[in-house]
Amino acid sequence: MNPVRIALLGCGTVGAEVVRLLHDQAADLTARIGAPLQLVGVAVRRLARDRGDLPVDPALFTTDALDLVKRDDVDIVVEVVGGIEPARTWLVEALRRGKSVVTANKALLAEDGPTLHAAALDGRADLYYEASVAGAIPLLRPLRESLHGDRITRVTGIVNGTTNFILSSMDETGAGFSEALDEATALGYAEADPTADVEGFDAAAKAAILASRAFHTRGRAADVHREGIIEVSAADMAGAKAMGCTIKLLCIAERSEAWDAAAESPVDGVSVRVHPAMIPRTHPLASVGGAFNAVFVEAEAAGQLMFYGQGAGGAPTASAVLGDIVAVARNRLAGVRASSESAYADLRIRAIGEVTTRYHISLDVADRAGVLAAVAGVFAGHGVSIATVHQSGRGNEAVLVIVTHRAPDAALAATVAELRTLDIVRSVASVLRVEGE
Ligand code: NDP
Ligand code: HSE
Repeated sequence: MNPVRIALLGCGTVGAEVVRLLHDQAADLTARIGAPLQLVGVAVRRLARDRGDLPVDPALFTTDALDLVKRDDVDIVVEVVGGIEPARTWLVEALRRGKSVVTANKALLAEDGPTLHAAALDGRADLYYEASVAGAIPLLRPLRESLHGDRITRVTGIVNGTTNFILSSMDETGAGFSEALDEATALGYAEADPTADVEGFDAAAKAAILASRAFHTRGRAADVHREGIIEVSAADMAGAKAMGCTIKLLCIAERSEAWDAAAESPVDGVSVRVHPAMIPRTHPLASVGGAFNAVFVEAEAAGQLMFYGQGAGGAPTASAVLGDIVAVARNRLAGVRASSESAYADLRIRAIGEVTTRYHISLDVADRAGVLAAVAGVFAGHGVSIATVHQSGRGNEAVLVIVTHRAPDAALAATVAELRTLDIVRSVASVLRVEGE
């Protein structure tokens, strides 16, 4: 049996576990694929780095990844380096040469997925990236294969483990954001620079990939409305609790109709957003604690589906990479490739202002006659319908908590802007979206 030859680009947290799995599961992998997998090169940045007891021949290491992907004795290129360049150059080169590519690089796929897909089509090569969204959780393959006969209406996910750890900790202990972030850093969940996680960039990249897959439309990270969790306070979490809710950083991609003024008809669109939101404790995503990830998929025929598991970490992510390696190795042996990118629907990406949702707004106000009427008048003036109002405190310490019915984001933004101008409103303490019934 001729081996299927692999070039591994990157041997860090994920790459080292890929090496281990290739070594430890070699016999089973051979039986499952019908040919052995052979590691023929490993590209890294630092040849001198101590890699412990990693089961790999030191002679395979190189710092020239481009040279490695060009080699004739490479069938599959596995990229676990990350970033846009030089990863894009390596992968385009590999795909155009007909080599199958497996990558975990969410940043690259969300920034410039179409270039990779075009190169895969040119080279008639496979491009698989299950590990790029939610680590070990099988998600992209079910969207790409199992659910291909259905019409997906909405995907709601917790796709960032670091922020879920922080928000779960705030919910459990009553801690503020900074305190919970410090705990996440001390326990190794948050990176030294947590910006990509806490500002929502990581989740936005994953949201773009998920939306592209679910709605057969090209979505990029730049199309995703993004808000992070740094402004979520202990008071917000307490307010959520008082409503029987918790707060999660959600990635939401949903199909909805929008009015096309030029065509004077409704058109299908898709909105993709990442922001903190209150969800009822009875919602399946509310019980996803710690650094776990979960994605809730709603489809017309299948109904509701939930995918849950470890969204990060070396071994869980390597599990998804190995699954892709087996799939592309089998395809090579069978002389086939998977269908290319499906972007036929080409849905319009809707601006956040058009998205409708419910809101929870806390206002610090003066407790005197006419205040509630004035506040309610501002909501009414922008067409935002109030569902409930609750007041606590008295005198100059009164707090009004208002929950709205569904309203367009633009109308809510205009309402909040006007509330800030009222003398009777000392401050708009918080504005949070409410998701889930
Ligand atoms: P690491 O930083 O741990 O490892 C990166 C690896 O790439 C290192 O081996 C490094 O070499 C190598 N490298 C960096 N620059 C170059 C270069 N110019 N040429 C050759 N090799 C280079 O990253 P992770 O393993 O954590 O992540 C890898 C990918 O997987 C990223 O795309 C990430 O987003 C994705 N991912 C990661 C998850 C995780 O939990 N870690 C989860 C899901 C996806 P050296 O060893 O010499 O430093
Ligand atoms: N930083 C990411 C997280 C890693 O916290 O989920 C996985 O993409």
